[in-house]
Amino acid sequence: MLKVINVVGARPNFMKIAPIVAAMRERADEFAPLIVHTGQHYDAAMSDAFFADLNLPQPDVYLKVGSGSHAAQTAAIMQRFEPIVLAEKPDWVLVVGDVNSTLACALVAAKLHIKVAHVEAGLRSRDRTMPEEINRVLTDQLADLLLTPSSDADANLRAEGIPDERIRFVGNVMIDALFAQLERAKVSTVREDLGLAGKAYAVLTLHRPSNVDERATFKRILDALAEISRNLTLVFPVHPRTRARITEFGFAERVESLENLHLIEPLGYLDFLCLYSGAALVLTDSGGLQEETTALGIPCLTLRENTERPVTVSMGTNQIVGTNTDKIIYAARRVLDAPRRAVPSHAKLPPLWDGHAADRILDALVSDEKSMASASA
Ligand code: UD1
Repeated sequence: MLKVINVVGARPNFMKIAPIVAAMRERADEFAPLIVHTGQHYDAAMSDAFFADLNLPQPDVYLKVGSGSHAAQTAAIMQRFEPIVLAEKPDWVLVVGDVNSTLACALVAAKLHIKVAHVEAGLRSRDRTMPEEINRVLTDQLADLLLTPSSDADANLRAEGIPDERIRFVGNVMIDALFAQLERAKVSTVREDLGLAGKAYAVLTLHRPSNVDERATFKRILDALAEISRNLTLVFPVHPRTRARITEFGFAERVESLENLHLIEPLGYLDFLCLYSGAALVLTDSGGLQEETTALGIPCLTLRENTERPVTVSMGTNQIVGTNTDKIIYAARRVLDAPRRAVPSHAKLPPLWDGHAADRILDALVSDEKSMASASA
């Protein structure tokens, strides 16, 4: 029986941990899962809503760290996580993605000689100004088992000198959650509630510090949105970080004056899935949404200069357009003016984005355990 502490901290973690914990509960003779929530995200809209939507059991431990600078948040997670690991003595600590909680908990476990499994290992934007890139590189160095979503990730890890024995290509577990919840999302009334039924619309999300913490960049994006929204309804669920910057930068009046730009509160998983799955176009700087739009064949424009998920461009529906106003407008027009939905002809599901990644992750944990046992025998 493997005791596994599954760590969640911020919004993009919940949809990765939910299928893994569900699979562990189904294989209850092999796994004893615990869920530790660091509390990096704590709002009802950023956290609570996801537990019910994803059938994720309530956390066994809640560390309540809340917001803070990177150092303060990372340190608080480490201080509060260490006694839990000491008390529980798990066989594995499983972390997902690239948020501060991922790195903090991996570092605590590694120093206590508890094995670390990193789900979504190997992704690289090669942009170390992104806090997430630092978290990715360091977590991968610490982890004993690197579970990758795509073959580019395997290549990145090898190039950093990580031995093959630690790398397993398991596919994309976020797509497990997406496929598992597609039917349930159909009952959401979010489109009717927002007056979008039967209408063409685009969905926008923005929260990367490089976009929303820089006034000039945020303004260039807003200028593009103003133009695009002249002919198309844009629905914008606003991340708390972004909401704070709109006020701080004095953009509130401008944003409110744009008739077709609708700012709403962040949505839960099912409502958001229902919303973007019906969109003509998605504009985003989120990593997860680049993958989800590829899985569903929805055109996506990524408002960043790079992506750590190149497979969404080479095999999917994603285009990296940056933050230049004219380039965003041009790319949006090309998608919207195409006679049919402008899904590139090469677009298809990347390998192992098949809804079964969680089981492959569990198999990898079990087989790693067996190979360790036979090595020490
Ligand atoms: C974090 C992750 C990012 C992920 C994103 C998804 C890091 C470094 N970044 O960014 O990789 O894509 O989550 O949302 O871990 N806040 C609230 N309520 C909440 C959470 C945050 O009001 O529930 C506010 C706080 O003012 C906080 C700010 O949002 O200071 C930013 O939160 P933080 O956890 O620092 O990072 P995110 O920008 O959300």
